[in-house]
Amino acid sequence: MTAYLTRVIRFSAAHRYYRTEWSDERNYAVFGACANPHGHGHNYTLEVMVAGVPDPATGFSVSLAQLDAVLRQEVITSLDHQNLNFAIPEFGDGGLIPTTENLVIWIWNRIATLLPARLVRLRLYEEPGLFVDYMGEPSPPDPDRPRFV
Ligand code: NI
Repeated sequence: MTAYLTRVIRFSAAHRYYRTEWSDERNYAVFGACANPHGHGHNYTLEVMVAGVPDPATGFSVSLAQLDAVLRQEVITSLDHQNLNFAIPEFGDGGLIPTTENLVIWIWNRIATLLPARLVRLRLYEEPGLFVDYMGEPSPPDPDRPRFV
């Protein structure tokens, strides 16, 4: 019997959407005010869902202490009160644009193998009315699985 536990954490970070290989005109056409030169900030909320079977003795499906330690070390310390374009090499000039989509995938790749339970879903809110879910990539088809066509 699998339980799905969600931990919610918050951090604040700044970003700018801008491709250095594009003209200012093209950047503003695509990114609007998000291309403004000095960036802007968001108060992010991250929901971290993990799956686990409750231990018969404790009733716990995951070590919250270990979960929190990973989130503190790998998410809060890395991102909180940072400018993502400068603090995270992947979001530097010529790299990925630090959108909510790219950021939630970046967080997944950073924490999935470090968590004490199987990561099921990340939901990253950039603001109360906008969030992105990421659940990893689908597994490749199993060649041994029977096919019904
Ligand atoms: Ni923004």
